Amino acid sequence: MLELIGVTAGYGRSMVLHDVHVEVPTSGAVAIMGHNGAGKTTLLRAAVGLLPVRQGKILLDGEDVTRLRPNARVRRGLGYVPQGQLCFPQMTTLENLQLVTTDKASTDEVLDTFPALRGLLSRKAGLLSGGQRQQLAIARTLLTKPRMLILDEPTEGIQPNVVAEIESTIAALAARGDLSLLLVEQHVGFALRATKHYYVLESGRITSEGEGGPAAVDAVRAAMAV
Ligand SMILES: Nc1ncnc2c1ncn2[C@@H]1O[C@H](COP(=O)(O)OP(=O)(O)O)[C@@H](O)[C@H]1O
Ligand SMILES: [Mg+2]
Repeated sequence: MLELIGVTAGYGRSMVLHDVHVEVPTSGAVAIMGHNGAGKTTLLRAAVGLLPVRQGKILLDGEDVTRLRPNARVRRGLGYVPQGQLCFPQMTTLENLQLVTTDKASTDEVLDTFPALRGLLSRKAGLLSGGQRQQLAIARTLLTKPRMLILDEPTEGIQPNVVAEIESTIAALAARGDLSLLLVEQHVGFALRATKHYYVLESGRITSEGEGGPAAVDAVRAAMAV
């Protein structure tokens, strides 16, 4: 379980997050929603250790990891997929995966989750579509065998016909039971279908939270319309 307790963080002197409390239970799925600039990416960066926390603390299974470096948090089970379908464009799909591991069994297992990547293994990642690059970015993170997958706007900038495919893959990952999910999304409908609990972040503060599921869509839309 990941806990952010009263986290305040930002860049230089300007704080972006203010006293943020978020809990992601083991094998649970949680969504963070909010408009552009609300601080969603900043929250994820603080959670994985890419941004120092000014006040508050971060616990992972009860252990205080607030001062641990990102790689130490990865070893403890956090898998982070940053915003923007990042990959190494001059390397092939397979080479991008091999940056994490050359173990064939692990790679095969991950490719079973993303069968579309199998036919693209020798293609340069820079020539993949946005949707394919997003699948590659998630696949690469899964190779680190995380216990918690942290996704920053996985459907952003993806062609509409591919969004459904990404969504169903993420829903399947969330349903796996051995993987918890922390999902930042602006697509409220999808985020609430894939998760059991949501938080709305506005100007760096959690302004509402509740149980996920399709029934919550109206409440979240109303909370975000303020
Ligand atoms: N590297 C940075 N340096 C300074 N300010 C930043 C940096 N990254 C983001 N910000 C500011 O922090 C605020 C929240 O940004 P961000 O966390 O990216 O929001 P979101 O992901 O919700 O769109 C914005 O006002 C943004 O301009
Ligand atoms: Mg962002």
